[in-house]
Amino acid sequence: MDFKGKAVLISGASGGMGEAIARKLAQEGCNLSLLARREEKLKKIAEEIKKNKIKCIFKKCDVTDKKDVENAVKYTYNEFKRIDIAFLNAGVLIPNPIETMDSNIIIGTMKTNFFGDIYFLESLFPIMKKQESGTIVVTSTLPDKRGKAGWGAYGASKAAISLFMESIRAEAKQKYNINIITVKPGSVETPMIKNYNRPGSVSPEKAAYIILNGIKKGKKIIQFPFSQVLMTRIGDLFPTSAYDAVPIYMQKGDDYPITEEK
Ligand SMILES: NC(=O)c1ccc[n+]([C@@H]2O[C@H](COP(=O)([O-])OP(=O)(O)OC[C@H]3O[C@@H](n4cnc5c(N)ncnc54)[C@H](OP(=O)(O)O)[C@@H]3O)[C@@H](O)[C@H]2O)c1
Repeated sequence: MDFKGKAVLISGASGGMGEAIARKLAQEGCNLSLLARREEKLKKIAEEIKKNKIKCIFKKCDVTDKKDVENAVKYTYNEFKRIDIAFLNAGVLIPNPIETMDSNIIIGTMKTNFFGDIYFLESLFPIMKKQESGTIVVTSTLPDKRGKAGWGAYGASKAAISLFMESIRAEAKQKYNINIITVKPGSVETPMIKNYNRPGSVSPEKAAYIILNGIKKGKKIIQFPFSQVLMTRIGDLFPTSAYDAVPIYMQKGDDYPITEEK
């Protein structure tokens, strides 16, 4: 795929991987629509990347609010008259310790990481169907097949979106010429994981490069970095008894918050 001149929407564009993808796409000559809750951040990024002589618009959008998502997609479509690529990248990572078993964390995580993307699909599909083309890139996570102690809310939300995207991939392509791509990053040094020590993580710029390169090559699933892909997929093959024997502190990872009983 050649990115030049494409109209691209990015959710979660106010920092981390979304911002890095936006900056790289600006250099490739895309016109961009940046979405997130922190409008000031979007404004600053948009001003900087407009120097690449591209069109860059931005809009405040909370992906947990269906109306916000509908308005953001409409706004983007009205400005560009088409949407070629949508990066559904917004996400949150919140520990859900077993000691408190707080349903608010679990529901809140599902609302952002799963239903947020579903709202986008609902708004984007009619546009891309009419265009008879489009690409939707959703950011899941590398460990999307097995649960990890303390991270069930995040894991479940990402497993759900990975499975959902897989369930529509073939049909969306065959019926409407819409490409569905799932990105499964390991650790990327963004604000999301700033409190956690994750050896082997890559920079957001490297992640953006791998993601865009994968899209250019026509990949349907883009997973990285290689060492973490290998470890994770080997772990996926462990029988349950061996998987459960992995020490809890290793499953949680370094710097997991210590929580008092409720
Ligand atoms: N970093 C990693 O190691 C890693 C690994 C695997 C997968 N991922 C996934 O990669 C994606 C990008 O994360 P990141 O690492 O770049 O994290 P990040 O730097 O924390 O960025 C998250 C982005 O999501 C936006 N966001 C969060 N909640 C939102 C909401 N309710 N509505 C709209 N936007 C919202 C944030 O913007 P506002 O706060 O301005 O709204 C921000 O732009 C996420 O889906 C994450 O789960 C990250």
